[in-house]
Amino acid sequence: MRVLVAAASRHGSTREIAQVIGEQLCEMGIATDVKDARDVISVEEYDAVVLGSAIYVGQWLADARELVDTRAAQLLNRKVWLFSSGLADAPSKDANNAPALLTRMKNTGAIGHRHFPGKLDVLQLSLAERAAIMAARGKYGDSRDMNVVREWARSIGEAITLDHPVNA
Ligand SMILES: Cc1cc2nc3c(=O)[nH]c(=O)nc-3n(C[C@H](O)[C@H](O)[C@H](O)COP(=O)(O)O)c2cc1C
Repeated sequence: MRVLVAAASRHGSTREIAQVIGEQLCEMGIATDVKDARDVISVEEYDAVVLGSAIYVGQWLADARELVDTRAAQLLNRKVWLFSSGLADAPSKDANNAPALLTRMKNTGAIGHRHFPGKLDVLQLSLAERAAIMAARGKYGDSRDMNVVREWARSIGEAITLDHPVNA
């Protein structure tokens, strides 16, 4: 049994969330690969896939969207969980393209989707990004809680090992 954790990240913070998910699954004895979404050529060798993306201007990044679009048939035959990372809070979190998320969940047969608060580091942003954040009155800082991420990953690990006992 093998699990893929893939993420699309522009400035690295979503990649770190994916790494924490991968570490948690490995600690549970589950063979796990963590990859950038753009490096995923096939998901054939995996029994389950955890796929996430940072959100920019209400959208998943193109690498993650393309992975869903090009591998939907394969993903439908696997256990799939999705996650998003962004800084919009409710109610503005609803502006993060809810219809697209629902379509994505349907097209992948995803068991669940989780939104994690992200990170905004002014030093990492381009001038255009800084201007967009200023216009949106966005707040800088790291809002990620890796314990919450680990907890979610643990629940995924438990769901996976129910069907594929690790020591069987
Ligand atoms: C230009 C710009 C636009 C953003 N747009 C959104 C958005 O629409 N919704 C949201 O929740 N977060 C938005 N964010 C916040 C990012 O999703 C957040 O910083 C995320 O953690 C970045 O992940 P990364 O480091 O993996 O690229 C935006 C950030 C920037 C710089």
